[in-house]
Amino acid sequence: MDWGMKNRLSRIIKPPTGHAVMLAVDHGYFMGPTHKLEEPRKTIEPLLPYSDAIMCTRGVLRTSIDPKTSVPIVLRVSAGASVIGETLTNEATTTSFRDAIRLNAAAVALSIFVGTQHEHQTLKSLGQLVNLGEDYGIPVLAVTAVGKELEKRDARYLGLACRIAAEIGAHFVKTYYCEDFEKVVKGCPVPLVVAGGPKLETELDAFELAHNAIADGAIGVDMGRNIWQSEHPVAMITAIREIVHNGASVREAQQAFEEAKKTKTPVLAKTPIR
Ligand code: R5P
Repeated sequence: MDWGMKNRLSRIIKPPTGHAVMLAVDHGYFMGPTHKLEEPRKTIEPLLPYSDAIMCTRGVLRTSIDPKTSVPIVLRVSAGASVIGETLTNEATTTSFRDAIRLNAAAVALSIFVGTQHEHQTLKSLGQLVNLGEDYGIPVLAVTAVGKELEKRDARYLGLACRIAAEIGAHFVKTYYCEDFEKVVKGCPVPLVVAGGPKLETELDAFELAHNAIADGAIGVDMGRNIWQSEHPVAMITAIREIVHNGASVREAQQAFEEAKKTKTPVLAKTPIR
């Protein structure tokens, strides 16, 4: 791996721990003004100091994130479907690589829909994106997205999708946590981060998800709704950081959450962000 590629990746996956807490705020590209992300700047700004990277579209980046930020951006470059459309899987590359470079993206992200009618087009887009990524030293995050008609979030399906993404050349992969997740990790030769998915019933459920994913070999999370749909988003991300970077147990994370709830701007325990 060349210097530029390694340098960009290490801006996201922090060298002191080899782990990452990415904040996903790209939902609007197919969900519109999702609950608690109606005004992106309001949601994102308080969480910026606690995020190792922000995953967003160019629209949100240009309108809602201060360009003076030092937080690396993982720029979503694929889109083309919506929650009210026929299918979620009909995506293409909608942001050019040139624009990603202009926006100083630390990485670019694209969804693949393995096992759907749009498998071929999304895998081909991934290949093209990786070719450009290699040309310019910008890492590619493949998102093993699951369309609404494809509810199989099991290790066999996710393992297949992650491995295919890695074989095509993705530098890191985002997927979902599932039973036997260690099998997904084992079969994927590049780092994996997990999405949180729809908001879980309790904070504890989200801590468990993050904890189990890390214990099974994920290098971090790319989490959205379980953080910013919480009543206490800053406390949530603080506790998730404790799990991802400092090896906190679910119980310790819950304690960190309760502590952080009492403070307006919680101080991070040990791990430096940048
Ligand atoms: C998927 O590609 C979405 O755009 C989100 O980035 C992803 O689902 C992560 O967010 P959440 O933790 O809310 O599922």
